[in-house]
Amino acid sequence: MDSATETGTDSVASVEDAGLADLSQAAASDDNVAALERWRLEYLGGHGKATLLKRSIGQQPPDQRKAYGMAVQAVAARLDDAYRAELERARQAALARQLESERIDVTLPGRTPAMGLQHPTTRALDAILAAFANLGFQAVEGPEVEWDFFNFQALNIPPDHPARDMWDTLWIDDQALLRTHTSPMQVRTMRQQAPPLRIVIPGRAYRYEQLDATHESQFFQVEGLLVDERSTFADLKGVLTDFARQIFGERRRTRFRCDYFPFVEPGAEMAIDCFVCEGRDPACRVCRGSGWLEILGAGMVHPRVLEYGGYNPSRYRGFAFGMGAERIAMLRYGIEDIRLLYQNDLRLLRQQRVPPALPPQWSRESPP
Ligand code: PHE
Repeated sequence: MDSATETGTDSVASVEDAGLADLSQAAASDDNVAALERWRLEYLGGHGKATLLKRSIGQQPPDQRKAYGMAVQAVAARLDDAYRAELERARQAALARQLESERIDVTLPGRTPAMGLQHPTTRALDAILAAFANLGFQAVEGPEVEWDFFNFQALNIPPDHPARDMWDTLWIDDQALLRTHTSPMQVRTMRQQAPPLRIVIPGRAYRYEQLDATHESQFFQVEGLLVDERSTFADLKGVLTDFARQIFGERRRTRFRCDYFPFVEPGAEMAIDCFVCEGRDPACRVCRGSGWLEILGAGMVHPRVLEYGGYNPSRYRGFAFGMGAERIAMLRYGIEDIRLLYQNDLRLLRQQRVPPALPPQWSRESPP
């Protein structure tokens, strides 16, 4: 019996020795967290070596059982303690490695996202519409493919009228065309809305043009129309002068000269004094020394146009104006060739970058 006991105790001791040796080998291996788990299954798992020792306690002769059992429990406890200690050490080491490899240098500069920019024409259109919104004008839009009737006839330009030559037209067929200006919206709007009327119409217009630095075959216009019972040419001058000062500066002076458009009478061309040289530089690149910049056409709405709109011309009167948005953009942002506005060269667009509006506490003392 002694030998059996000794064999039992021996095997208990050898399980401990082997377990500890295997454990330190597992702990030393590369993937030690996984190796330790395999070790745990091998020794402490349901069929593990230490577990089997515990199960064998009941098979011991009764007089040996207590001593054997205590020895087995002690070995199992030591293996368990050793395992936990190794596992904790392995986890700490893995965490330290992970923190090291995922280390972030918070002092590195971030990636600056590319900021979208508004096209100069869009910015000019927005500025124009905002200026007229301040004066109570509402924006409306209309079709780019238009009837001869609205583009010409209802604007007092009958078929074969020589004034048609003022607008080189892209025809769709003998009655439809690409509108050559936004003026057809004058009559369209009058037909839809009762007076009084105070509207602006932004939109594309098209002409069959020889392209050069100031002519494109498509461009944007902003039309304006005010109709009420008592408006005069003085109101026209007042509104357009206020507009010019909002866009080109408080100090702007305006000049009105006679011009001819079949749908207005009298008709005028408005110029502003050159906001670059204020008329003082004979070599000024912007006004070419003239001191004046023509920016729009205007006039009192022709009675026949009011009639076409369904308004009674003996009761109502009004004024209208039209301008090229690109021309305003070119003047405002110093762009010398209208074609640049349609080539989408990013270098041009980037030059137009305006500093973003910053909340007051962030605003710079002086420009960088
Ligand atoms: N429609 C005219 C043009 O394109 C401009 C204009 C509009 C003139 C309104 C007078 C009144 O040339």
